[in-house]
Amino acid sequence: CKVRHYKFNVVMKNTTKLCSSKSIVTVNGKFPGPTIYAREDDTVLVKVVNHVNYNLSIHWHGIRQLRTGWADGPAYITQCPIQPGQNYVYNFTITGQRGTLLWHAHILWLRSTVHGAIVILPKLGVPYPFPKPNHERVIILAEWWKSDTEAVINEALTSGLAPNVSDAHTINGHPGPVTNCPSSTADGFTLKVKAGKTYLLRLINAALNEELFFKIAGHNLTVVDVDATYVKPFKTGTIVIAPGQTTTAILTADRNTGKYIVAASTFMDTPGVAVDNTTATATLHYSGTLSTSPTTFTAPPPQNATPVANNFVNSLRSLNSKNYPAKVPQKVDRSLLFTIGLGINPCATCKAGNGSRVVADINNVTFVMPKIALLQAHVFNIKGVFTTDFPGNPPVSFNYTGGPPPSNFGTRNGTKLYRVPYNTTIQVVLQDTGIIAPENHPIHLHGFNFFVVGRGLGNFNSKTDPKQFNLVDPVERNTIGVPSGGWVAIRFLADNPGVWFMHCHLEVHTTWGLKMAFLVDNGKSPNESVLPPPKDLPKC
Ligand code: C2O
Repeated sequence: CKVRHYKFNVVMKNTTKLCSSKSIVTVNGKFPGPTIYAREDDTVLVKVVNHVNYNLSIHWHGIRQLRTGWADGPAYITQCPIQPGQNYVYNFTITGQRGTLLWHAHILWLRSTVHGAIVILPKLGVPYPFPKPNHERVIILAEWWKSDTEAVINEALTSGLAPNVSDAHTINGHPGPVTNCPSSTADGFTLKVKAGKTYLLRLINAALNEELFFKIAGHNLTVVDVDATYVKPFKTGTIVIAPGQTTTAILTADRNTGKYIVAASTFMDTPGVAVDNTTATATLHYSGTLSTSPTTFTAPPPQNATPVANNFVNSLRSLNSKNYPAKVPQKVDRSLLFTIGLGINPCATCKAGNGSRVVADINNVTFVMPKIALLQAHVFNIKGVFTTDFPGNPPVSFNYTGGPPPSNFGTRNGTKLYRVPYNTTIQVVLQDTGIIAPENHPIHLHGFNFFVVGRGLGNFNSKTDPKQFNLVDPVERNTIGVPSGGWVAIRFLADNPGVWFMHCHLEVHTTWGLKMAFLVDNGKSPNESVLPPPKDLPKC
């Protein structure tokens, strides 16, 4: 194994899209940012130099970070931010993972433009568990706002209302042709292919707030990996991908010629939620096809196509082969039920919303960001930064997905952690609530992959639903969409000591408080503890 060195200069860059210009925060002047390439078992060192006027931190989304929580990146959770003019070296080893992941800024809303791909190749000499494609391509889906995204969220927080949605989706940085902006006809991404060849597409949803459908006209895709874990290959016409998720799929260029539209558009099955309803397009272009020849377009599914999303999610199974067994915890040491959802709290200072504001919570706790990083507070025993009384079950039970919510259903604020003994197996049922409206929440856990052993609609039934759990080959991932008005059950082994964030990967919901953290104790031997902090760890 090797040590791979990267340098991320974080700089402002003036960028024009949709016929309007703004200055954005970028890594090395690029949107999307550079791809990190490594092999399983490699050590990666990324020196991040902050040349901008924002506090910064970068998260390596999905990297296990075994005992190296200091390199995980969420600001005020595992590190204090890198202040303007400062730098920090993220140092981590990739253990037992291969596939596609992403990195992104993990502070404020900066990840709207500060993100990129992580490509983890298998160990040298180890083949893919599927026929080796001829070529590999990274495809990053994201959103674009004409306004500054920090201004968008700050305005929402002052008003108490929901932030504006993005003005366009992007595919590798490009929205594709849009109406009312003639110069945009040239602003599209082109995926050049040769007839008969196969392409491994490493697809990433780096959007802040929108789950997406992804479709290539005239072609099916064979999914082989999600969140850097191999799955049983299956063919699909549409990929469904939530913010923070990755999907690796094989495209066979089985047409002789032509141009086919690649499209990304929103999946949202809660009526009335404002979304960006634009479709980003790119072009799949067979070599030898004239650029003037017509394109083939198949529209992605409509915004509320829940059956398409369910069908995709239900097709995902761990590969569970001899070389890649699914190590699903068969017994559970702790069984938790977390309600997740949106709520309304009083707000005397809010400029709109009639004296109230939208909040979000887990088990009725709206998480408050601390002023000192939790991992530092834990390791250095700094008192008063957090408490460990996060409720492991909902404080009030009610019909979560139907009927009227309990009256006066305000949430409590707090920086509450849930403490877990090292090496115990945890089951969490994530139960969506419909206090304002049910909504699909992509929940991301740092520091672990989990197995999605069950999924259903309505209220989780602890007597009957566990009988249907898949404990053989459930999909293993780091981000899972909890269906609107439903639940998922996840299991993981708490074999990684430290403080691990769990939150909705819709940034607007994270901002509103849909987040918590697990505190996993150190093991008994020194080899089981979180490593000592690096010397250059930023200070608050
Ligand atoms: Cu990709 Cu805590 O996030």
